[in-house]
Amino acid sequence: MMSYHTTVLLHEGVEALNVKSDGVYLDVTFGGGGHSRLILEKLGADGKLLGFDQDADAKTNLLEDGRFTLCEANFRYLSNFLDLYGYSEVDGVLADLGVSGFQFDEAERGFSFRFEAELDMRMNQQQPLSAKTVLNEYPVEELKRIFKEYGETRFGGKLAYLILKARETQQISTIEDFVSLIEQAVPPQKQGSELAKIFQAVRIEVNDELGALKAMLEQSADRLASGGRLVVISYHSLEDRLVKYFMRSGNFSDTLDKDLYGNVNRPLDPVSGKAMVPSDEEIQQNPRSRSAKMRIAVKR
Ligand SMILES: C[S@@+](CC[C@H](N)C(=O)[O-])C[C@H]1O[C@@H](n2cnc3c(N)ncnc32)[C@H](O)[C@@H]1O
Repeated sequence: MMSYHTTVLLHEGVEALNVKSDGVYLDVTFGGGGHSRLILEKLGADGKLLGFDQDADAKTNLLEDGRFTLCEANFRYLSNFLDLYGYSEVDGVLADLGVSGFQFDEAERGFSFRFEAELDMRMNQQQPLSAKTVLNEYPVEELKRIFKEYGETRFGGKLAYLILKARETQQISTIEDFVSLIEQAVPPQKQGSELAKIFQAVRIEVNDELGALKAMLEQSADRLASGGRLVVISYHSLEDRLVKYFMRSGNFSDTLDKDLYGNVNRPLDPVSGKAMVPSDEEIQQNPRSRSAKMRIAVKR
């Protein structure tokens, strides 16, 4: 079997957590369990690790370890799960956002434009909203907004209009249907990069990726113990911006709340103003790591 996922920034991500032997840690994007396995290696007998993944397929990687619990859930509910398991505080939260190599390479999950499959893109297979619903049922203005905001593409207006026309006669149901509309909306020399951006836009909408990220960041800041660490690896600028703003100012509009003495009032202190990126060697070995950016913050 091909590996489920090649972990990005494996050592750097776990180092950044500063694992304490008896600490409680969250890996909110369990996936293939690469980061989780290394965290468990660093934890002592009294340490605990809670993993989250909203994709039922991640269960195939379950770790047989008494210190580990997997929550098959969206990380936007992390506080509820901490209540459920009786942890008021945690010592570290690691998030490695986006989809796994497994999800991307599994044709029928519908994440990649390389395959012929039904339009899907759901990370959580139980959720009703799929890419098919978005493309066939969303009003045209919504589609334009999604392509512009989440895909940062200039061709969203034309594409939304072509979608509207196409669905008057027939459902847009396969990846091929969608790709052929994109090919009509985008000039040939731009299609490579635009396809990726437009697919990303639909995926972000289907999984409400930015909404879930915001909820997770706020709850993490709330539940981290003083000195505890938040480590987030993101793969596109929309996510990285939210992470950067939140770590710097405690909100998503990047509004700095300063006291009389000029001290910034925020729950976390960023460890550095600059994001950490994978080494050239890692990018060469795993090209999917090339867009990764890691940010670290410490709870006050
Ligand atoms: C990039 S992979 C993580 C890989 C993991 N670090 C490893 O080493 O194998 C991201 C995983 O997070 C999951 N995921 C993404 N967003 C999520 C969310 N909001 N809630 C729960 N799981 C999520 C995906 O289903 C996917 O399995």
